[in-house]
Amino acid sequence: MEKAILLWHESYSVDIQAFDDQHKKLFEVINVVFAAVTSRKNPASRALLDVALSEMVEYMKLHFEAEERVMREHAFPEYDAHKKEHDDFARMVTDIKRRHDQESEAVTVELLKSLVTWLDTHLNGTDKRYTPYLSALNVK
Ligand SMILES: [Fe+2]
Ligand SMILES: [Fe+2]
Repeated sequence: MEKAILLWHESYSVDIQAFDDQHKKLFEVINVVFAAVTSRKNPASRALLDVALSEMVEYMKLHFEAEERVMREHAFPEYDAHKKEHDDFARMVTDIKRRHDQESEAVTVELLKSLVTWLDTHLNGTDKRYTPYLSALNVK
C-alpha cells in the first residue's frame, strides 16, 4: 500500500477537540481513497474506491455541518464566508464522486492532491479563524 497522502499533525489543531477529531477522521477517509486509487490494479479496488469515496463525501458533509452548527450557535461573524468555502468544496467533491460513478478512471492521484491542498489551506487558514472567537466563548 502506498503511504498516506495526508497526515494529521499538532500544527493542524484548531483547539477544539471535537473538530480536531473530525479532521483526523477526515484525513483517514481520504487516505483510504488514496490507497484505493493507487492500488487500481487490484480487482477489488473498484469496490473499495466506491465505498471509500462515499464515505469521504458523507464524512465531509457531516463535518462541515458540525462546524457550521457551532459557528451559528455562537454567532460567529465570518460564518457566511466560511460556509461558502464548505459549499464550494462539497460541490467539488460531489462532482468527483459523480464522475467516478460514470467513468472508472476519473479519480486520479493528481485530483486527490488538489483536494488535499484545498483541505490543508482550509484547515490552516479558514478553520483556524474561528479558534480565538470560539475559545473566548469557552467552546471546547
Ligand atoms: Fe471549515
Ligand atoms: Fe474543518
